[in-house]
Amino acid sequence: MNKILTFDELNNLAEKLADYSCENTVIALIGDLGTGKTTFSQHFAKRLGIDENIKSPTFNYVLEYLSGRLPLYHFDVYRLGEAEEIYEVGYEDYLEVKLNYHGEDTREVELRYIGNEAKEKEMLEYVGFSYWYSN
Ligand SMILES: Nc1ncnc2c1ncn2[C@@H]1O[C@H](COP(=O)(O)OP(=O)(O)OP(=O)(O)O)[C@@H](O)[C@H]1O
Ligand SMILES: [Mg+2]
Repeated sequence: MNKILTFDELNNLAEKLADYSCENTVIALIGDLGTGKTTFSQHFAKRLGIDENIKSPTFNYVLEYLSGRLPLYHFDVYRLGEAEEIYEVGYEDYLEVKLNYHGEDTREVELRYIGNEAKEKEMLEYVGFSYWYSN
């Protein structure tokens, strides 16, 4: 599902996905330079109740934030030496949030649940995308 969102709508989506997430939810947050990955992560973490400031895990393999409703393990996949190492993180299906630059004030977001159609439907309904989808 693709949708053009304003920054406010994007922040709202990050918060809804935080509410939707449960233990072991894996989210792949993908986007070119400056598309809003860090801002998205900050809104997501804040909604989980994490009070620390979210940074890019540039010098660390993973940053852990343990002060919220769920523990958040923030990996920078660019740091993984081999693509296959991602499997060591351990996951079956994952939520994919892809941010594409779309002018100054908006971004195109692509939202999918890879490997689980039932969860995809549930998640799109939860965040209110099924409404857009059917319209
Ligand atoms: N949700 C948002 N609300 C307001 N501004 C935003 C939002 N997302 C992105 N921006 C704008 O885009 C800029 C880059 O955002 P951000 O740093 O989150 O991107 P990034 O994908 O983490 O970039 P990088 O790849 O360089 O780390 C921000 O400084 C801001 O101007
Ligand atoms: Mg960033």
